[in-house]
Amino acid sequence: MTNTDQPTLLHAHYATLQTFWESVLERTGFSAIVLGAGSQQFHFHDDQGPAFRPNPLMVQWLAKQHIGENAWLVVRQGTTPTLFFHQPDDFWHAATPAPMHLSTHMDIQVFADLDALKGRLVQEVSKHLEGKHRVAQISERDDAVTDRCVLNPPNVIHALHFQRACKTEYELTLMRQASEQGARGHKAAEAAFASGASEFGIHLAFLEASSMNEWQLPYGNIVAQNQHASLLHYQYQDRKPAAEMNSLLIDAGANVDGYASDITRTYVGPRCYSAEAASLFEALLVRMQDHQNDLINQVTPGANYVDLQAAMHRSLANILVDTNLLACSADEAFDTELTVPFCPHGLGHLLGIQVHDVGGQQLDIEGHVAPPPAPYASLRLTRPLTEDMVITVEPGLYFISMLLKEKRAANAPINWSLVELLTRFGGIRIEDNVRLLPAGAGVENLTRDAFAKV
Ligand code: GLY
Ligand code: MN
Ligand code: MN
Repeated sequence: MTNTDQPTLLHAHYATLQTFWESVLERTGFSAIVLGAGSQQFHFHDDQGPAFRPNPLMVQWLAKQHIGENAWLVVRQGTTPTLFFHQPDDFWHAATPAPMHLSTHMDIQVFADLDALKGRLVQEVSKHLEGKHRVAQISERDDAVTDRCVLNPPNVIHALHFQRACKTEYELTLMRQASEQGARGHKAAEAAFASGASEFGIHLAFLEASSMNEWQLPYGNIVAQNQHASLLHYQYQDRKPAAEMNSLLIDAGANVDGYASDITRTYVGPRCYSAEAASLFEALLVRMQDHQNDLINQVTPGANYVDLQAAMHRSLANILVDTNLLACSADEAFDTELTVPFCPHGLGHLLGIQVHDVGGQQLDIEGHVAPPPAPYASLRLTRPLTEDMVITVEPGLYFISMLLKEKRAANAPINWSLVELLTRFGGIRIEDNVRLLPAGAGVENLTRDAFAKV
């Protein structure tokens, strides 16, 4: 029995979901919420398509690795939800198992015939549409339920997205497992790199050790050697080992029953082109690790991530000045936003069912939004931090020719000979996933715990 089989965890998860969803029904005046899992999409003029990814809210309710197409869930007040589960007779594909282990938490009805399922669904929904009642339908397309449903009403969506930031203990258990599988993959990737593997070889080592099929990954693995590490979401993988191996930046995570880890590590390579450059890069790696620890220590309920983003740039200014990459004071570097091209992405984001989980810029259940301030336009997390959120903390330092070129043209006080020395290392990112504990108790670092365990 895994931890997630524990009935008490599941029971508490469903109690939290049911209570919150009932409060949304109460507040918005809908008599039911109908969730559609969705169905397989296809490439243009093709009978093939991307792997099916169900509606994330359905993942929250079912927390299963496999959720079949065309499943529907009806949530109402005062009673457990009803799941309409499609399990066609099919000799092309294996049947998706119905989640019968959830039958104490929902009424599960399994249908081989899709028309029969839809007929029962319409019947069920119609019961909640009598008189002045309205039903909210949350699905990608409006093809299955009566057109009297309100499709994707913003007031319902905002509330459900806002709530997803704070995880139940059941969700945290899945995320710990995803962290452990990710850590196994990362350890294998590090060993493969040390023995001279190509980007592709490292990718395969990650998949095998993390036990992930490629389609299960929460996002495409970023396996970037040398200058590729300066491309924040580098998407290819060289098949041949590189002639020089200066650095590896690997950003890769695992997925357990729909919940993600998102982990980045950066290493100095086994065949650096220059010993001087390697020792400078190594010194930067050490500084960046301390820098990440400092930032994690500031993560606490009530903290504002925009302030932490600014703190990241303040520390980056110190690092760049201390290592002579910038020929000005740290204050000047920070005030003139000279650190921004060295780290043009946000410090982190919410993590959960989606790698960039929804609601990071949302201030409340009504959907008021806090856009990031101008110099930090890529920051995905601007809402105040609260207990039981899971967020990433991922400071970076890159040598991105495209961005630095502009600074060169503007005569910025940058030590170009050192930049040149380091360009072939691409950059550094160190990314952990942390859960906020009550104020004063620090964080649970899912990533560090997982690396220590596996
Ligand atoms: N893996 C994408 C990110 O770290 O945001
Ligand atoms: Mn991330
Ligand atoms: Mn990442």
